[in-house]
Amino acid sequence: MPVSILPVSPETQASAGAKELTKLARQAAGCELCPQLVESRSQVVFGTGPADAALMLVGEAPGASEDREGLPFVGASGRLLDTLLGGIGLGRQEVFIANVLKCRPPENRDPKPEEVANCSPWLERQLEIVNPAVVVTLGNFATRLLRGDPAPIGKVRGRPEIVSVGSRQVRLFPVFHPAAALYRRPNLKVLETDFAEIPGLLALGPPEQLPPVAGEVADEGAAGSGDGAGHGEPAGRADGPDGDSQLGLF
Ligand code: URA
Repeated sequence: MPVSILPVSPETQASAGAKELTKLARQAAGCELCPQLVESRSQVVFGTGPADAALMLVGEAPGASEDREGLPFVGASGRLLDTLLGGIGLGRQEVFIANVLKCRPPENRDPKPEEVANCSPWLERQLEIVNPAVVVTLGNFATRLLRGDPAPIGKVRGRPEIVSVGSRQVRLFPVFHPAAALYRRPNLKVLETDFAEIPGLLALGPPEQLPPVAGEVADEGAAGSGDGAGHGEPAGRADGPDGDSQLGLF
C-alpha cells in the first residue's frame, strides 16, 4: 500500500524510529476495521513529526482539511494549534502530532467507542516508537483514552500526571481541544495558560520508568491493526467546558 504522506521529515527518515513509523503508516493506510470510516475517508491520516519528538500532541480525528491533505491539524484548529505552539517557542515540525482516530468520520461526528477501540493500537504503537516525555491530549477523546478514565476535560485540564502508556511512563497533560476556543473565545485564554506549562514539563524530561516485569520483552510493540476516524473542525457551537463536552472538544 503506497503511503503518500510519510509521517517523518526527510532529515529523520534514516533513524530506526522513523523506519518503524513509516512501516506502521503503511500498515495503517490499508486498515479496514471500521467499514463506515473506510467509506467516509479519502485517506488515513496517520500523524506526523520527528520520530524522536519529546512532545506528542494527540487530537481527536481528522476533519475535512486533514482528510484532504493527509496531515493532522491543518484546518482552523490546526492554525490555532500552530499559534499556541508558537507562543511557547515551538514549531509544529518539532512535535509529533497524531489523533485518536486516523480516519475522518462522516459529517465530523464523534468517534464511536468501537472505532476508538479499533484505532487505539495505532496510537499506542506511535507512542511506543516516538517515546515522548510529554503527551498533551487535546480534548475529551484523547484525554479519556490515555487517562483510561471518563472524567471530562473540563475537570482535568491543566493538571499534569504520570500515566502508563504500554510499558512506559509519560507525563500526560490534558488541555482543551483548540476547537473549543474557536467555539468559545474565553477558552483561548485557558488554552494559552495551559500551553504555558508545557516548556516546564518538557524541562523535567521523561518521568522515572517502572522496572521491567520479569519475562517482558523490551520494546515489543502492540500494534497490529486498527483504523480510525476523526472529527474535524467545529460543526456547531457549544457553551462552556462541561456544556461543550458533547462535542468531545473539552
Ligand atoms: N481536530 C482534530 O482533533 N484533529 C485534527 O487533525 C484536526 C482537527
